[in-house]
Amino acid sequence: MPLAEGRVLQIGIDQSEIGKDISRLIHGAILVGVLVAGLSVLVAYLVNRVIAGPILDLLAVVRRLQHREFGRRVLVRSEDEIGQLGRAFNELSETLEELFDAISDRERKLDAILSSMSDGVLAVNMQRKVILANRAVADMFNVDELSIIGKNQFEATRNTNLSKLLDDTIDSGESIVREMRVRPGSERTIAVTSSPLTNQDRTPLGAVAVLRDVTDLRHLEQMRQEFVANVSHELRTPLTSIKGFVETLLAGNLDDRALTERFLKIISGETDRMIALINDLLDLSRIESGKQPLKLGPVDIKEIFDDTIMILQSNADAKNMTVQNLIYDPVIVEGDEKLLKQVAINLVDNAIKYTPEGGTVTVEAIKSPDEVEIIVSDNGVGIPAQHLDRVFERFYRVDKGRARNMGGTGLGLAIVKHIVDKHKGSICAESRVGKGTKMRLTLRRMN
Ligand SMILES: Nc1ncnc2c1ncn2[C@@H]1O[C@H](COP(=O)(O)OP(=O)(O)OP(=O)(O)O)[C@@H](O)[C@H]1O
Ligand SMILES: [Mg+2]
Repeated sequence: MPLAEGRVLQIGIDQSEIGKDISRLIHGAILVGVLVAGLSVLVAYLVNRVIAGPILDLLAVVRRLQHREFGRRVLVRSEDEIGQLGRAFNELSETLEELFDAISDRERKLDAILSSMSDGVLAVNMQRKVILANRAVADMFNVDELSIIGKNQFEATRNTNLSKLLDDTIDSGESIVREMRVRPGSERTIAVTSSPLTNQDRTPLGAVAVLRDVTDLRHLEQMRQEFVANVSHELRTPLTSIKGFVETLLAGNLDDRALTERFLKIISGETDRMIALINDLLDLSRIESGKQPLKLGPVDIKEIFDDTIMILQSNADAKNMTVQNLIYDPVIVEGDEKLLKQVAINLVDNAIKYTPEGGTVTVEAIKSPDEVEIIVSDNGVGIPAQHLDRVFERFYRVDKGRARNMGGTGLGLAIVKHIVDKHKGSICAESRVGKGTKMRLTLRRMN
């Protein structure tokens, strides 16, 4: 603004007023700031409560679920989307719990069935790794049931044939049955049925094998075959000889009275042998079948052996042998008298038969409160160690030629063993070749 010369316009402001204004402004700003901060805390709190809180709850329950804790539920705090999510989640975890229980239950049942099976079960996947094995398999291969899971099939079983069978099953997609030894040189035979494992759309998953121990079955089959062969052989030998003598006589030698008589005596002897054999067989099958129950009663062992020795005295005399019963007092057992006499006769008969001229046979008894051990000893030819267990098998003879010459068929001790077993007793042989044999028979005493 123009001013007259020499004039000065001076404008002055009171600074204290300005200061007041500024301070008012600052206070206002602080107040707004505090309000905004408070508001944001409130908003954050509300957001946390309404959204983040339930989600964190959910997360915590999911974590529990991962550890198979199905009991936990989400707290539903509202009816909005988050509340619905929580409710749906609770339902889902309930369903999961039921499903898990059902699966665990099935798994437990399957486990129980598999581990109580006497057959082995072994499953492998396409990579030939074991995915399932039960206790029977582990026992067969002498390994730990759990530690073979995940191992390669050969590493787990050490059986090349089984490995090959599983390979062949997977390669061919067909079931295969094969018999094999548990391991090379083993006595145990297993029959393995191996089948391909597939899922529902027939995609191959591996193979599962069922392993059955058939050792006893095969042994029985072999025994049956041997038995038939033995019986046929035992019958054919005397029959052939009878036929030979009869044909010789028929060929015009009937007039020779002495010859005829000699031949007829042989024929009669052979017939006796066959009758004895058939009687033995009938005895064996009767005892074995259990159809004829034991006629139990008190039996005096001393008397049984006294009678036996009397019956066989002439056999002993013919060989200049001494047979003595060193049981002086009655020893009473509960048993079938007729059968126990058969035992005694067989044992003393063997002792006389397999002892050379001039030998001695003794019978003695060792008593304990509940049992009595009867020992029939001889100083005869003895039984080589490797035959000791086997002499109780049917038709088993140590020296086949010699025993047959003596009229033996190898059934005597088999019958003895069966009778003793029926009496819940036991029998074993002890022997030294060239020195003699001891047959130890244990029976229960009757008090
Ligand atoms: N006391 C013994 N001393 C030596 N060997 C024996 C004795 N007892 C049995 N043996 C052997 O055991 C085998 C089987 O005996 P077992 O009594 O079963 O048949 P066996 O005497 O040959 O015929 P069987 O008794 O049927 O007439 C005999 O062949 C013999 O080799
Ligand atoms: Mg005999």
